[in-house]
Amino acid sequence: VLVSARDFYEQDYHFAEDVERPNLPRLRRAMRHLQPMPGTAFLDLGCGVGWATRLAVREYAVGSAVGLDFSHRALVSAAALTPEAGWVDADGTRLPFRDATFDRVFSFGSMEHFPDIRGGFAEVYRVLRPGGRLVTAVPNFYIRTGQPLEFRATKGGWGAVMRSVGFEIERVATDPGPALFKNRRPVRLALRLALRAISLIPVLRYQFVFVLRKPSSIDGAV
Ligand SMILES: C[S@@+](CC[C@H](N)C(=O)[O-])C[C@H]1O[C@@H](n2cnc3c(N)ncnc32)[C@H](O)[C@@H]1O
Repeated sequence: VLVSARDFYEQDYHFAEDVERPNLPRLRRAMRHLQPMPGTAFLDLGCGVGWATRLAVREYAVGSAVGLDFSHRALVSAAALTPEAGWVDADGTRLPFRDATFDRVFSFGSMEHFPDIRGGFAEVYRVLRPGGRLVTAVPNFYIRTGQPLEFRATKGGWGAVMRSVGFEIERVATDPGPALFKNRRPVRLALRLALRAISLIPVLRYQFVFVLRKPSSIDGAV
């Protein structure tokens, strides 16, 4: 399954469109939950063409930035856009980093595609320093995007998985979904309009932006 999922991104995913038409305001809205960021060690998990990594370096002044993805094609574009970041080709559920390497991990629309959802969160927990933060945007239960592996859950369902590996949930924001005019194919536009309307109902928001903290070792000591 993993091999074919990876093949899908290598061969079929719209990375060229992502390079040409990034939605930076949408990323910035989610990334502000990572503040303060200056000087921190930052990981963008499932980075695609790496726009969040680029923002981390060029707008948020992180101390070091790594983008990780299992699509070589995505990383070639990412490295061209932001040569000053580090780019790592690896599976998101087996991170090639030591324990407690990062202060901030960001993952936008990627962890729900991992072959082992709980294992993916456990790996992020492992590579975060105590007191470090993960901000991850993951879709609501009814969303479909046509990617090979799509885990879906309600806000409560996602939260249960995250808590089960040790994360503390600081807050949960929401994301309204793709820009309406991302591309002009009429059927796609109509679908996005319908999604926007549905997504006005709070429990049916397109996706959740979870702000998670790995507890410090002193938490709970008193
Ligand atoms: C919907 S895209 C999101 C990309 C980027 N975060 C963005 O906001 O544009 C999902 C990304 O997750 C990556 N991905 C999916 N499964 C993965 C896995 N098991 N390990 C590493 N990356 C994975 C894909 O290659 C793809 O770049």
